[in-house]
Amino acid sequence: MNKITVVGAGHVGATTAQRLAEKELAREVVLIDVIEGIPQGKALDQWESAPIEGFDTRVIGANDYGPAAGSDLFIVTAGIARKPGMTRDDLLRTNADIMKAVGREIKECSPDAIVIVVSNPLDVMAWVAKEVTDFPRERVIGMAGVLDTARYRSFLAEALDVSVEDIQAMVLGGHGDTMVPLVSYTTVSGIPITQLIDRNTLDKIVERTRKGGAEIVGYLKTGSAYYAPSAAAVQMAEAIVKNKRRILPCAAWLEGEFGLEGLYVGVPCKLGAGGLQQIIEVELSSKEQIALNKSAEHVRETMSAVSL
Ligand code: LAC
Repeated sequence: MNKITVVGAGHVGATTAQRLAEKELAREVVLIDVIEGIPQGKALDQWESAPIEGFDTRVIGANDYGPAAGSDLFIVTAGIARKPGMTRDDLLRTNADIMKAVGREIKECSPDAIVIVVSNPLDVMAWVAKEVTDFPRERVIGMAGVLDTARYRSFLAEALDVSVEDIQAMVLGGHGDTMVPLVSYTTVSGIPITQLIDRNTLDKIVERTRKGGAEIVGYLKTGSAYYAPSAAAVQMAEAIVKNKRRILPCAAWLEGEFGLEGLYVGVPCKLGAGGLQQIIEVELSSKEQIALNKSAEHVRETMSAVSL
């Protein structure tokens, strides 16, 4: 890939740029932010690490979209982050306005780009990005499920004292307290999780996963998580850049899948060249479908508070 642009040079955006460069996922990574000096300084600092880390991806910082022109992929992290006690929805109006401005710039400078949305509230911001760019759903995808699933997998690996690599899982639904960890599809190297862990411990892990973002905000106090969120966004980017056709839980625009339509919500997606290649409609238990519907309802309520 030629050029990937990361919008927002805060903790999530800057760490994303660094991970993209260290993995050499593009020839050039452009880091954009409205604050003067921050993207330039962070980008230059990262580029100066290149001889040590051994990557040739050029990292460039800018305050405007000139250097982003012709990008193949955008990762949008711009927006204000949560403070303790704030829900992701509290961020709604400010971040919707930011997303509208960013979406217009993307459409203008890179009309063929794929967009991965990271800003919160995630499912609603992905919708704003899709509406403003008018890109097809294949090219506007939201990052949440990979992060929520990673949290779930890390907690399970710790509880079971096994490698994180051997835990396969899916967390669906909106990125919020209504997310839906799919216990029936959670396995350890193919062994159903319910054979390895008692119900009570599993329930606690599911609950901790739901509140995983808030747990980090509670510690950091002045911001939200960024190491795992950036790793998640970059895993999605890698699947697209390398046409890996990975099955990852991502926020996708639904058109009837899982009985839902006209909103973004986390579902199993196949990511590869071109972006979203397929939504995989797995079977859900009635309890999981009810939880997914409830999550979708919450996303819809949040959408109705945004005027485009
Ligand atoms: C989290 C925020 C970034 O889940 O939504 O950590």
